[in-house]
Amino acid sequence: MSLFDNMLKDDESLFLNPEHLDYDYQPKLVPFREQEQQYMALCIKPLLQNRNGKNLLIYGPPGVGKTVSTKHVLRELEQYENIIQLYINCWKKETKHKIALEICNQIGYKFTHNKNTDQLMNEIKNRLNKKTCVLILDEADKIEDSSIIYYFLEDIYKKSIFLITNNKEFLLKLDQRLMSRLNIDEISFKPYTEAQTRDILKTRKDYAFVQNVFDEEAFNIIVQKTAELNDIRTGLYLLKEAGNIAENKASRKITQEHATEAISKLKDYKTKDPSMLDKYESLILETIKQNPGKTLSEISKLIPDISYKSFSRRINNLTSANLITKEETTTETGGKSFKLYTGHARKLSDY
Ligand SMILES: Nc1ncnc2c1ncn2[C@@H]1O[C@H](COP(=O)(O)OP(=O)(O)OP(=O)(O)O)[C@@H](O)[C@H]1O
Ligand SMILES: [Mg+2]
Repeated sequence: MSLFDNMLKDDESLFLNPEHLDYDYQPKLVPFREQEQQYMALCIKPLLQNRNGKNLLIYGPPGVGKTVSTKHVLRELEQYENIIQLYINCWKKETKHKIALEICNQIGYKFTHNKNTDQLMNEIKNRLNKKTCVLILDEADKIEDSSIIYYFLEDIYKKSIFLITNNKEFLLKLDQRLMSRLNIDEISFKPYTEAQTRDILKTRKDYAFVQNVFDEEAFNIIVQKTAELNDIRTGLYLLKEAGNIAENKASRKITQEHATEAISKLKDYKTKDPSMLDKYESLILETIKQNPGKTLSEISKLIPDISYKSFSRRINNLTSANLITKEETTTETGGKSFKLYTGHARKLSDY
C-alpha cells in the first residue's frame, strides 16, 4: 500500500453540496418551528380575504430560526398573487430612505433617481394599495427612524408588519402613539433542545457532505457545542470548518480532532454576516480583536471621530449579535466596567 492511498486526492472533496451549510441557504423544511410558522400564517390570513392583517413581533436570541422560519412562510405565500411580499434586513438598510429605496427595488419601481423619501413613499403607497402586503423588517431594532413603520400603518391599508429582533426592549423606545397603532402580537423563539439541534444539523450535514465521511464522534462534539451555545449558525460554521480542516490535511474522514480544532477557532467566528456591519462596527470589532480584555472606555479611546453615544449603540449591536462579549469587572477606583472580547464567547473558559 502506498503512503498516499488513504489521502484525499487533489480533485476529491469531502463536500458534496457545501451550499447546504451556508447561513442564508433556505432548507425545504424548517422543523420544530411549526407552531411559530402557524402563528405567522394566522396573522397574514386576513390578507388572503382582502382584509387588514395583524402585526407581529418575533424575538429571540441569534441563530434560533427566526429568519429562516419567516422566509419559509413567505415562500408558502408566493402562490397568492394578491399579496406583495417585502423582506428588508434593517441592519443593512437602517435609514428611512434606504428602506424606501429597497422597497422600490423589490416592487420593481425604477424611477427613484432624484426623489426624496416622501416622494418614494408616495409611489410605494400607490402600488402597494392596489394589493395587500406583508412587510418583514428583520433586525428591526437597527432602524434609525421608526417613522417608516408609522408611514406603513397610516398609508398602507391592508398589511401585516412583522418586526424581527434579538432584543425586544427596542419597542420600549418607540413612540407610544406608534405602539398603540401597531397593536402588536408577539412570539418568542426559544433555543432548540439538544435533540432538535442534532436533528437540524444532521439534515444539513447529510446533504452537505459525501456519505460516511463525517465521523459520528466528531459530529457529536459539534452538536454538543452548538446546543451549549444555542445557536444553529454556530453549528453550521463548525460543520463547515471541520470539513475544511480535514480537507486541508488531505484526510478522507472528518474526525474528532478536526471537530475540536474547529471549535478552537470559534473565537474568530462571526455569527452574523460581516458585510452587515457598518464602518464603525467593523472598526470596533477589529480593535477589540487586536486588544482583547481592554475595557469599554479604553476601546472607545481607540476609535476616532465617534461620540460615546454612537459608540455605545454599536457596542450594543455587536453584543446582541454575539460578535463580542462583555465581561463585568471592577475598576481600580471600585467602579464597574466591562472588559471586551470578540467571538461568541458567553463563557470565555469555553475556549
Ligand atoms: N429548524 C431549522 N431547520 C433548518 N435550519 C435551521 C433551523 N433553524 C435554524 N436553522 C439554520 O440556522 C441558521 C440560523 O437561523 P436564522 O438565520 O433563522 O436565525 P435567526 O434566529 O434569524 O438569528 P439572528 O437573530 O442572528 O438573525 C440558518 O442558517 C438557518 O438555516
Ligand atoms: Mg435572523
